[in-house]
Amino acid sequence: MSYGRITGWATNLPERVLTNDDLAEMVDTSDEWITARSGIKSRHIDGTVTEMSAIAGRAAMAMAGVDADQVDLLLLATTTADQQFPASASVVQHELGLTCGAVDMNAACSGFVYGLVTAMQFMNGSVDRILLIGADALSGIVDWTDRGTCVLFGDGAGAVVLERTGDEPSLLGWDLMSDGSAADILYCDHGGTIVMHGKEVFRRAVMAMTDSATNAIARAGVTADDISIVVPHQANVRIIEASLKRLGIPMERTAIVLGHTGNTSAASIPLALVDAIDNDRIAPGDLVLMVGFGAGMSSAAAVLRWDPPAS
Ligand code: COA
Repeated sequence: MSYGRITGWATNLPERVLTNDDLAEMVDTSDEWITARSGIKSRHIDGTVTEMSAIAGRAAMAMAGVDADQVDLLLLATTTADQQFPASASVVQHELGLTCGAVDMNAACSGFVYGLVTAMQFMNGSVDRILLIGADALSGIVDWTDRGTCVLFGDGAGAVVLERTGDEPSLLGWDLMSDGSAADILYCDHGGTIVMHGKEVFRRAVMAMTDSATNAIARAGVTADDISIVVPHQANVRIIEASLKRLGIPMERTAIVLGHTGNTSAASIPLALVDAIDNDRIAPGDLVLMVGFGAGMSSAAAVLRWDPPAS
C-alpha cells in the first residue's frame, strides 16, 4: 500500500506591491496602525486567479517531475474565481495542458486545507497524482474606500503536487468545520465588495482555529508538543498569537508571511508552507500543523508528517 504525500510545491505573487504608506494616501490610515493591529506591512495586488495558479501549478509540477498527462485531478481552492463560470480550474487545466478532471472548491480561507484533506481521501483510493492549488485575488473585491477591510487583503497562489508514493501515511489527523450561523459576519455578494464585522470575526477566528487544531492534533494521536511547526492562515498576527497561546505552542514554531502578503485567503497557507520549506524550517519526519479559518465561518486543520521524496 502506498500513501499520498507532497512531492512538489511552488508559489506565485503578482508583481504590483501596495505598501501601508501607499494605503495611507488612499484612506485615513497609517503604517503604524496597520502594523500594530495586523502585522501586515505590504501586499501584492492586481493578480488573477487563473494566471497566478497556472504559474504556481506549472512550477510545482516541474519540481515533482510530473508531466501534464500524469495528473489525475486538479483541485483549485479559491473564493475569487476569475468568472462566475466556468470554474477557474478548467481554465488552469487547459493552460497547463492537463487532461484530467478539474474543479474549484470554495471554503474561503480554509480552502487549501479542505482541498488537502479532500485530495488525501482520493489518494486512499486509486488516484495517483493530484495538483492542489490555493489561489485568491482579493484585491478585485476589496472596497478601496473602506479602511476597515482594504488594509488586510492581498493576492497570491500556492500549489502542491500530491503523489501516492509514500511508505507511511502522511496525513495523520484532520478536522473540517463550518458554522453557517455566522455567514453574515464576513461575506461578499455577487458583484459586490468584502463586508466584514472585524471584531466578531477576530473573536470567532481564535476559537475556530483553536478548536480545529485541537481536534486534528487529537485525531493524529499526538500532542501540541509534538508539532514541529504551525502553518496558520495568515489573516492577522494577533489572531495567530492568541490561538497559539491557547494551544500552548510558542510563536517561534510558526510560519508567518503575512507581513509582505496580507491575507491571501486560500493561498495563505501554501505561501507560508513554502516559505518555511525554503528557509529550512521543516525537516523530513516533522509534524506540520496547518490550520485555517474564514468566511462561513469555516475552519480546517491538518496534521501532516513531512515526507518529501529523497533529493
Ligand atoms: N486605520 C486606522 N484606523 C482604523 C482602521 C485603519 N485601517 N480601521 C479601523 N480603524 C479604527 C476604527 O474606526 C476604530 O476607531 P474608533 O475607535 O474611533 O471607532 C479603531 O480603529 C479601532 O477599530 P477596531 O475595529 O476596534 O480595531 P481592531 O483592533 O478590532 O482591529 C481589525 C481591526 C479589522 C484589524 C481586527 O478586528 C481584525 O483583524 N479582525 C479580523 C479580520 C480578519 O481576519 N478577517 C479575515 C478572516 S479570514
